[in-house]
Formats: sequence, C-alpha cells, structure tokens
Amino acid sequence: MKISVIGCGYLGAVHAACMAELGHEVVGVDVDAQKVALLASGRAPFHEPGFEEILSRNVEAGRLTFSTDFADLAGAQVHFIGVGTPQLDGSYAADLTYVDAAVTTLAPHLGEHPDGPTLVVGKSTVPVGTAARLAEQLAPTGATLVWNPEFLREGFAVQDTISPDRIVYGLPGDADLAERGRATLDAVYADLLAQDIPRLLTDYATAELVKVAANSFLATKISFINAMAELCEATGADVTALAEAIGHDDRIGKKFLRAGIGFGGGCLPKDIRAFMHRAGELGVDQALTFLREVDSINDRRRDHVVNLARHALGGTFEGKKVAVLGAAFKPDSDDMRNSPALDIAARIESQGADVVITDPAAGPRLREERPYVTVADDAHTAAAGADLVLLLTEWKQFRELDPAALREVVARPYLIDGRNALDPAAWRAAGWTYAGIGRP
Ligand code: UDX
Repeated sequence: MKISVIGCGYLGAVHAACMAELGHEVVGVDVDAQKVALLASGRAPFHEPGFEEILSRNVEAGRLTFSTDFADLAGAQVHFIGVGTPQLDGSYAADLTYVDAAVTTLAPHLGEHPDGPTLVVGKSTVPVGTAARLAEQLAPTGATLVWNPEFLREGFAVQDTISPDRIVYGLPGDADLAERGRATLDAVYADLLAQDIPRLLTDYATAELVKVAANSFLATKISFINAMAELCEATGADVTALAEAIGHDDRIGKKFLRAGIGFGGGCLPKDIRAFMHRAGELGVDQALTFLREVDSINDRRRDHVVNLARHALGGTFEGKKVAVLGAAFKPDSDDMRNSPALDIAARIESQGADVVITDPAAGPRLREERPYVTVADDAHTAAAGADLVLLLTEWKQFRELDPAALREVVARPYLIDGRNALDPAAWRAAGWTYAGIGRP
C-alpha cells in the first residue's frame, strides 16, 4: 500500500521505517528540513537501537522516502499522523498545534483513492475528544479517521512497532465508516495481525483514553515504588528487596517497580499532566487527583538525590567536583526531554558544584545543544578528581564499571546510585562509600 507518515520524530520516523519494512511504499513528511535530509540519506537523527538498519535498508530499496512537501503525500491511501503533542508553556494542557496543523494541511490532499477508501490514522497522544473533533473536520474530504494509539517505548521502538503487545483501533460511530476503517487498517497491519497480536476495536474516546490510562498506570507504578523508597529510607528497609517480594505476586508483577530518581522523558510526565487538565475540563478532576501525588512523589526523588549529594559532600557543593554518569532520561536513548538526570545535574551545578557529565549517546548532543555544560567522553574521564560520583542513567557501560579501576581516578570514592543499578557489596568491597535509593 502507499502510506504517508506526518511527523518524523521518534514515533513517526520509526513508524515510517517499520511500515516500509512490512513492504509498504512509504513517504515520511516533516517540516524540519535538516531532519528530513538526514532520514532521506538513511541516517537516524536520534539514537534508537535497530532503527538505522531498517531505515537505510528501506531507503536504499526505494520503498521509503522523506519530504518537507505535503504535496508528496497526495498519492498515499493511508496517512498516519505522528506529530508531537508537548506540554503547553505555563499550563498542564497538551499543545495540539502540530496535530491541528497536520490535519489542516493534509485535508486538501485527500480524496478518492483508486485502491480503496482513504484513511487518516491518528497515532499521536491526544486529549480525549480530539479524534471526534478531527473526524468532523475531515468529513467533507471523504476520508475516514481511525484513532490508533502508539505504545512504543524509546530504546525498544522498532520491536514495539513491529511486534506490539496490542493494537487498538478507535473507530467512527457510523457502522459503514467503521468497517471501512477497520478493513483498510487491517490490510496495513496484515503481517502484524498474522502474528496473533491482539487487536481491539473501540470508539474514538476509548482509544484515546487507553493510551493515557496506560501511561498513567505506568507512572503510578513508578511513583508507588518511589513512595515505598521513602518509607524504606525512614526505616532502614531495602526497597529493591521489597519490590522483588511484592512482584512475585502476578497481580502486581515485577516490571516498572525500579525505585530511583523517577520518571522523565517526552511522554509520562506530560501525558499525566495533560490527562489531569482534560479531566478538569470534563468536570471530573477528582477522578485524577491521585496523579498530582504521582507527579509530586516523582519530583521529590530529584530533591532527595540533590540532598543526598549535598550531605555526602559535607553540606555544601561549593568548590566540589561532581561526576554525573548519564544525561538521557533512560538508557538506550539520547532523549533528554524532562530528563531527571539532567535536572539533578543542573540543580547541583547551580548550587556551586563543578559538574562533569558523561552519556554514551546523549553526550555529543549535549555538547552541541548546551555548550556551557562540561561533557566528558566516558565515565573515567568524567570521574577524574571527583569528590562524588552520581549514577543517574543506568547505561550498560555504567552498570559494568569496574569499581576498583574507577576508584583509582577519583579524589574521594563516594558514589550515589540513583537507579539502584549497581551491586552495593562489590562497590563497598572496592573501598567505595555506596548510597542507593531506598536501600540501607
Ligand atoms: C513510555 C511508555 O512506556 C510507552 O508505552 C509510551 O508509548 C511512551 O511513554 P518511554 O517514555 O520511552 O515510554 O519510557 P519508559 O520505559 O516508560 O520509561 C519512562 C521513565 O520511567 C524513564 O525515565 C525511566 O527511567 C523511568 N522508570 C521506568 C523508572 O524510574 N522505574 C521503572 O521501574 C521504569
């Protein structure tokens, strides 16, 4: 099939490459000419394991092209919208500027397609009610709108797109339109559906809510275990053992119970806030007041690590050198949007410390985007002469550090493990003072 993908960020670019990998003829459209040029040459504009391989393979095969010109998507039968919905400045609301612009610019290019019904498929995370509004706007074009939320995780984006846990279609109320939408999208995803991936058919509102409910649940799990970490800190208990023990209960599960410096990134923080905002507009804000607590528990973890660090340095950051391992919001990504690691590093620096940051993927980007930050190439260079080492993003490279070798280069062997990613016994045995999160 001929497919277009509007918006070539983490979501859109990976989706475009994966659709081409399934054998479709795909054009990705984005307003950012630099990004489009990189993608068109088969190079990834961001770090995502496995992405560049499928990108370059499909670009070379001629199945995948990129453009800044909306006219280039006119021949496509299915148009995916994968633009961002960031948090609005000064508000919790989602900024729908890019979604609205995509639909408005797309509309004149829609019409009868020789191969069958024309479909517009929303993948962006939007406030509930958006799809119904956009469907009305698209009605005169004859195109059918399906809301098909995306659940991909950065670092696993290719795997999550080609082999998702489930696929959700939010369909129009009209039965004929719904059937056209379902059948056409089934044809796009035929290879995925052949793998027996569950496909759930819902209305628009449910599909929109599934996405924000899932992210809210994940954020709640993380803040729950971080709240337990606060209890562990007050009592001398160990949150990692607690998480393992409760996780043995299948109803709870072990995943997303890693206590530490909390969640960040381009999705969880802004999605729970936009969800609270939308609940307020709908007059049901009380239903989501718990998310305020989820958000503030998450913030408190950042304060906690800054306080731990100050305490470790004898009450002041002035004149102290601090090595920060990690800048990305999580490993296997160079994304620093709302990164707890970067936020903690900035707070420590603003209080007088001399901070050196290292990150295997985000490092080069950090140098380019924030030239005032001191960036080192690796952990040993960053830690040279340091009074304190903070592990804030649990990259494999950091988890596998040799504590004895790192001890040789620091001024003072004191480590705060903000992700509980290291073995305290091994670090202590090598002469380090080790402090984790919620563990004695
Ligand atoms: C998330 C959702 O997982 C994904 O389904 C959705 O489509 C987009 O948002 P992502 O933002 O890529 O994906 O990252 P995720 O793996 O969910 O991690 C989010 C944050 O939570 C990271 O900062 C991570 O370090 C933190 N986290 C995760 C914890 O602190 N503890 C955990 O146990 C798990």
